Amino acid sequence: MSKQGKTNKITVTAVRKMKENGEKIAMLTAYDYSTAGIVDDSGIDIILVGDSLGMVVLGYDSTLPVTMDEMVHHTKTVTRATSRAMVIADMPFMSYQASLDDALLNAGRLMKEAQAHGVKLEGGREVAELVRRLTAAGIPVMAHLGLTPQSVNIFGGYKVQGKSDAAAAALKENAKIIEEAGAFSLVLECVPAELAREITQSLSIPTIGIGAGVDCDGQVLVVNDMLGMFDRFTPKFVKKYADLNGVMKEAIGRYVDEVKASRFPDDDHSF
Ligand code: KIV
Repeated sequence: MSKQGKTNKITVTAVRKMKENGEKIAMLTAYDYSTAGIVDDSGIDIILVGDSLGMVVLGYDSTLPVTMDEMVHHTKTVTRATSRAMVIADMPFMSYQASLDDALLNAGRLMKEAQAHGVKLEGGREVAELVRRLTAAGIPVMAHLGLTPQSVNIFGGYKVQGKSDAAAAALKENAKIIEEAGAFSLVLECVPAELAREITQSLSIPTIGIGAGVDCDGQVLVVNDMLGMFDRFTPKFVKKYADLNGVMKEAIGRYVDEVKASRFPDDDHSF
């Protein structure tokens, strides 16, 4: 059953108003139809089809190998399941760095083929012109600063960003540049809480924090992390709201036992 065709309630305007009204924005990732439906029904404002897809769904070591085709494929499943939340799709590594024209066409695929409501991309000054072009073409852009995972090889690991005075000043400047370029919101990842608060207060667009303290305008987590499904690596900022790993293993273990003991299927589950 597709939820497509129903009116999406959360728009760029709604998100802006939430900041103006001091209402926090709740965002989560999702990468498939079943999970996106549950996330949407649970009252999430924005669903991000993040390129974290690469690590938690596709089993890559980083987000770098994720392709446009993979993003389009997974974003399609999420938009089909969603009726209320705004769906933002990540632009994967090298889908927007090579040229403005490539970037426009790739963002266009996420909007046309996958029916996303906007795209997210990483960077500050270096992507400002692209943010202007995408916005002018009618594509809402969520920016992403701080720990930008596509630059993990430059950072030398997944580390907190903006700790020195110079790095903090650069982050503040990039946040302003990206706002002026037309981004409708900004993800701040792994940034000291005090710096995230200052940036949040200095901008008219909402900030969405992940490992950036409570004073951002909203929060985002990777759904597989917060549900306790993905246990290979858990960053400090992840709060586990459930232990689905344990729940799933217990249920699957019982199924295995019942199959081995010929207790499944019983009469209730047979024709
Ligand atoms: O890819 C992703 O899931 C993200 C969030 C962690 C913000 O970029």
